[in-house]
Amino acid sequence: VGQRTLAMIKPDGVSGNYTEEIKRLIVEAGFNIVKERLTQLEKEAASAFYDEHSSRSFFPHLVSYMTSGPVVVMVLEKGDAVSDWRGLIGPTDSQKAKISHPHSIRALCGKDSQRNCVHGSDSTSSAEREINFFFKDFLGWMLNKQN
Ligand code: CMP
Repeated sequence: VGQRTLAMIKPDGVSGNYTEEIKRLIVEAGFNIVKERLTQLEKEAASAFYDEHSSRSFFPHLVSYMTSGPVVVMVLEKGDAVSDWRGLIGPTDSQKAKISHPHSIRALCGKDSQRNCVHGSDSTSSAEREINFFFKDFLGWMLNKQN
């Protein structure tokens, strides 16, 4: 039991074969992986997930990056899951992470401020929205599409 957060291994993390190592770091840090899915985002889903960034100049690139290959989404549980997972992944910019947080996951497998290997919810309210997105709404949306 504890707080829940959404963790995602982005396309560069999955294609770079970092999934197992990241999951090992997650478990080692005391999180429980309570749900896990391998999926592929389409443009519509990636745009909806990152809606809060839709006015940013990097948004079109973010959407094409996030749809470029499969992602692994997980629900992590731990006492302070939201802030502890953000701490473990390190700063958004992977190059800065390599200097300031050398043991972080983005230092390990991120490339830059966009291709930063992993995602983590930034608050308990985003965690709730993002967990519902992947483990409730998105599932329904995928099933509807197949009909
Ligand atoms: P994430 O933590 O998933 O949240 C928003 C994402 O937008 C971020 O990781 C990056 O992948 C991307 N992003 C954030 N800032 C920039 C930026 N300055 N340039 C390009 N991409 C960015």
